[in-house]
Order: sequence, then C-alpha cells, then structure tokens
Amino acid sequence: MDLSELGTPCLVLDRGKIDENIRRMREHLSGRGPVLRPHAKTAKCIEVVGRALDDPSSPVAVSTLKEAEYLFEHGIKDILYAVGIAPVKLERVARLREVGADVTIVLDSVEMAGIVGKRGGALGANFPVLIELDCDGQRAGVAPGDPVLVEIGRVLDGEPGTELRGVMTHAGVSYQARTPEAIQAVAARERDVAVESAGALRRAGLPCPVVSVGSTPTAWFAEDLSGVTEVRAGVYMFNDLVMAGLGVCEVDDIAISVLASVIGRQEDRGWVITDAGWMALSRDRGTAGHEVDQGFGLVCGIDGAPLGDIVVTSTSQEHGIVAHRGGGHAAPAKARIGDLVRILPSHACATAAMFDRYHVVDGSTEVVEVWQRVNGW
Ligand SMILES: Cc1ncc(COP(=O)(O)O)c(C=O)c1O
Repeated sequence: MDLSELGTPCLVLDRGKIDENIRRMREHLSGRGPVLRPHAKTAKCIEVVGRALDDPSSPVAVSTLKEAEYLFEHGIKDILYAVGIAPVKLERVARLREVGADVTIVLDSVEMAGIVGKRGGALGANFPVLIELDCDGQRAGVAPGDPVLVEIGRVLDGEPGTELRGVMTHAGVSYQARTPEAIQAVAARERDVAVESAGALRRAGLPCPVVSVGSTPTAWFAEDLSGVTEVRAGVYMFNDLVMAGLGVCEVDDIAISVLASVIGRQEDRGWVITDAGWMALSRDRGTAGHEVDQGFGLVCGIDGAPLGDIVVTSTSQEHGIVAHRGGGHAAPAKARIGDLVRILPSHACATAAMFDRYHVVDGSTEVVEVWQRVNGW
C-alpha cells in the first residue's frame, strides 16, 4: 500500500529515521558510564521501544501503568513508572510485581512514603521507590538540599512495604534552553542535584543504588555524568520541531509526521486548509518562543521534504490553516486542493498521542508496516 491510499489524517513513521535516531543516542551514551533507560512515553509501541533496547532485560521508563502492563506482556521486566505514584494505582503495581515485573515507583513526600509503606505492607508487596528531586523548579520533586529528602528516605527504609532504591530527576527546563551552553548548564544542574542528593542519603546511612536523570536535550549535551547510574530519554527516538529548534537534531531527523489532505484554499487570505486540526496535531505550540516559530507543524510534501517556509499557523478541531511563515498574501502554491501533505509536529509525544497506530514507511511513500500504540492510562 502507498501513503496516497490511506485515509487522512493519519500518523506516519519513518522506520529508517527511527533506527538512526536510536543508533545515534545509543552510540553517544555508550562507554560513558550510565545505562540508557529509554522512556516509552512518546513511542507507546513495542516495535519502537523494542528497537531501543538491547534485549528484553534492558530497563525502560513509562509514563502510564498501561504502558507498564503492555511492555511486561511483551517480556520487558525492568520498568520505572516515572510519574509520582497515586495511592489508587498501588494495587495495579502490586499485581504487576506479583507476576514478575520489577516495577519501581516514584514519590516526593513523607506522606506518600507513609501511604505506600502501609499499603505495601498490607498487600504483601515491597515496592521499590525512587525519591523524585526538583532540579529546575518546573514540576514535582524535593528541592535540592531540603532535609525532607532524608526523612522520606528513612520512612521508605523503615517500612516493610517499601524499598528505597534511589533518586531520580528530570530537567524539563532543558526544553526552554536555547543554546548548547544553556542545555549544558541545565544538564550539569540535573546531574549535580541527583548526585548530591544521593550523597545526602548515603551520608545518613541510607541505600541509594540508583541515580537516575534525563531528558533528550540533557542526554545529548551533558558533559559530566559521573555518579549517575542511568539516563532516561524518550523523544530522541522520534525527534520533533522543538528538538530541531534546540539544536538537538536536524529537521531531517524527524521520524514522525501527520499525513493530511488539502481540502481548500482561501486565496485572498493566503491560506491553504487541511483536514489536520488540533485533533490530529495536538494543541502543542512548543516552538512558540523559539527563534523560528514552526506553528503547529512544518508542512512537507508526501515524500517528507519540507515545501519551504510553510507552517500550520492555526488550528480548529478538524481544520488546519497553512500559510507562509511570517504571513504574506499568496496561499502556498505547492499545496493544491486534493494534494496530500506531511506535517512535522512541534511536539512528537503530544501529536502521536492523538493516534492509535503508526503507518510505517522506510524512506519512500510505501507503507511497509502498521504498528499499534497503547494510549490511555
Ligand atoms: C520523568 C521523565 N523522564 C524522562 C523523560 C524523557 O524526556 P524526553 O521526552 O525529553 O526524552 C520525561 C519526559 O517528559 C520524563 O517526564
């Protein structure tokens, strides 16, 4: 089958680019000390995640328990559920552990450590836990230097239902760092906070075998990873316009695109209309603050090559408005009514989440495979 025979909008993945992105990150980290723990949050698909692992005994991170259950069904056992745990999810984690999945959970408060410890005791589970650290003030985690870290550690170490396994942090602020030097500084901070916190736990006589850091930009730009035991990254497998804008990849390295049909032209406004609105592209506008604003996506021909400076400037549910970046009155001439275009996404995780499968190509417009995704929670 050819892309031209598919219904639109749909999700297209270039297998050769995925393989190359995975190869480059693997090579980049190899020999540097920490192991790579690929994050399944973008892919949510065994055919993709499996390519990023050496073998099924390799570690993975997940963003939902559904991903954890799905990957375990495919033979993967070492799973970090890298979102703060909620009490209502503990039974599902316990069930997974009972059948042989080594699922580690994450928390950042004395209260939650107590809840998990009690529940673990009642369920006869011994939940391995990483304490989450806040290295950039963006989200969850214990602030650097806060003595509550050791308090949480003592609760986890003392309760029969938990096992203190270490610390983890994610420098989400790397997505806002605009220069290689800025990403290097974020990566240094991510590493320093994790390593210093691990030291604080150890000085208090507590175990801390795991020191886990990572995001795709910091995985690429970190200069010093000493003391870190694992690096997590997920979007590197796909890449997207945010990563290209940060200098983490080239636009040509983006493996994922949305196939859309041109359904109209508004010549007097300089617009082309496609059937890929925010239900297909997502509302993510991650490059809005970048030097080059890529709107809701960069428009390419069916062969995947950019048509020029042509972007999706606005979206409604099922309509995407395509125009020249920076405006102008002429509607893009290369996108004629009835044409198929491929739109490179701003944020791969968000765009992929709008679809239940990947139509896989390998450098041409021939669909060579269809891979299912596991959405939901
Ligand atoms: C906890 C955690 N670790 C790792 C990652 C992977 O980062 P990236 O998507 O930049 O590869 C994420 C992404 O959101 C995350 O939330």
